[in-house]
Amino acid sequence: MKLNTAVPTVKFEDDKFDLDPQLSLLDNLLHANKSIAYGCKSGVCQRCLLQISDGDIPANSQLGLSSVQKQQKLIMSCCAYPKQDICLNQAPQLAPKQIAEVIGVTQLSESILKVNLQLNCSSHSGQFIRLYRSASLARCYSLSQSPNSDNTVEMHIQLHPNGVFSQWAFERLQVGMPLAVEGPFGDCYYRKQYTNQPLLFICAQSGFAPALGIARTAIAQDHAAPITMVLIGHHMDRFYAADELAQLDTMHSNIRTYFYPEPPIELKSEWKKQSEPDKGSTLQAFVCGPKPELEIYPSLLQQQGLSSAQIHSEFFVNN
Ligand code: FES
Repeated sequence: MKLNTAVPTVKFEDDKFDLDPQLSLLDNLLHANKSIAYGCKSGVCQRCLLQISDGDIPANSQLGLSSVQKQQKLIMSCCAYPKQDICLNQAPQLAPKQIAEVIGVTQLSESILKVNLQLNCSSHSGQFIRLYRSASLARCYSLSQSPNSDNTVEMHIQLHPNGVFSQWAFERLQVGMPLAVEGPFGDCYYRKQYTNQPLLFICAQSGFAPALGIARTAIAQDHAAPITMVLIGHHMDRFYAADELAQLDTMHSNIRTYFYPEPPIELKSEWKKQSEPDKGSTLQAFVCGPKPELEIYPSLLQQQGLSSAQIHSEFFVNN
């Protein structure tokens, strides 16, 4: 393996070529006519995973991957800009496709569709699955789940004006339809050891769905510390899931909710006041929603002294 060459090379499927350092690893491989699955090209959907067989992990190429994925030396090729030679393989198939059944379709607002699915496997609220409309068209959606539900999950699909998937979902999804899905994926979910730790949810758009599911899970597991729910891009008087929020409020005595039509560019003191760690406790923060609106918050939280283990992100891209 060469080190520190001026132009790093990539070896992929018995083919070796120079990398254009201006392009991501994914785009280099696509330009070389390699068949690589991809979706968002922004480090969210994890469709572009590849496995390193030799070489260093490029910076920022494993953000948001699980510890198991990291151990397997998987990287998101759309976020990878290798500085040294690298050898890659296709990622092993970790979660084969399964057929789920649509068991509920409810339009919550003009732009939000609630879809309930029956899966064949267990999952956690806050994880995500990849839904397939066809072999080549898929989108990822975060899961919300009622505690003790029998592998049934709920997701909120946001309608986008030019979204081929979301428009199809609004027009065509019906109860009884089979849907190919992959997953669940992701590490953004509640753990029992958080029982005495304040929870802070910062969510936007349909990112409320995983936040709701994680909060429900916490309450079902006797979560004892305060819960703060920050809803960005929503108005209190026309919030699409006001009933679910009100229900959550009745389930736990110490929930505070804050609405912000525009994303604040700082962490508000009222969020911190409610979430201030008590002696011996540690805040757990969950950031759920579209990446462009919310990606500043993990770094703001880190500036407040939270470690990366205390910050759980579930981002998506709008398409
Ligand atoms: S295409 Fe790389 S994470 Fe979505």
